[in-house]
Amino acid sequence: MRLFSLDNRLSMCASFVRENASLADIGTDHAYLPVWLVLNNKIKSALACDINEGPLSSGRETVEKYDLCDNIELRLSDGLAQVKKDEVDDVVIAGMGGELIARILSSCEWVKSEDKHFILQPMTKCEVLIKWLYDNGFEIVSQDACECDTKHYTVMMCRYTGEHITVDESFYYIGKLDPKSDSAKAYLTHVLSHLNKRAMGDKSLLSIIEKINGELL
Ligand SMILES: C[S@@+](CC[C@H](N)C(=O)[O-])C[C@H]1O[C@@H](n2cnc3c(N)ncnc32)[C@H](O)[C@@H]1O
Repeated sequence: MRLFSLDNRLSMCASFVRENASLADIGTDHAYLPVWLVLNNKIKSALACDINEGPLSSGRETVEKYDLCDNIELRLSDGLAQVKKDEVDDVVIAGMGGELIARILSSCEWVKSEDKHFILQPMTKCEVLIKWLYDNGFEIVSQDACECDTKHYTVMMCRYTGEHITVDESFYYIGKLDPKSDSAKAYLTHVLSHLNKRAMGDKSLLSIIEKINGELL
């Protein structure tokens, strides 16, 4: 059986998963991420969860194709509702809007456990997600960016600390990206072009634009 490659976006998510972690992939759809991680011996088992039967059955097809039914359990779940605290170390929530990711985290009591890692890849409204994280005692431990099929993405690994760190509003857009890296530069340039359009109707964004520009210098 030929192994497959992940695209840059899912590959970056995979890079943040801890070796041998018990993983829950929330909104798994095709289940490529958990299947790839098990096939590449990075983890032994995973829960592949989705709120919808359709995506879950396409995930089941991938799991069966690679003969991983003993390693990967497909589970119908709205966010983390059907996942128990002691079942997982690392949680990936990728390919959804930042607001939905924040809602999924806020609906689950046990996310406030310092030993859990959350690998989050918001498609939109990244700033809403980062604000939610910092308002609720989480921190971004590391963050990176990539380009995939001409689109720009960021992935962050977060955990709960219980501390309430005050951050500047520009941090909701930049996070822990290193503006000196080429991938972060490309991502932030893309963020800036969106902000510049929005700033035509919302002048309060101008100070954030100035700060991001300053970081890119
Ligand atoms: C665009 S796909 C992303 C698939 C994969 N995670 C990726 O990044 O390539 C989004 C998936 O999230 C699922 N989803 C949406 N809301 C969800 C929720 N509240 N809980 C679990 N899954 C959800 C959808 O059914 C869909 O399969």
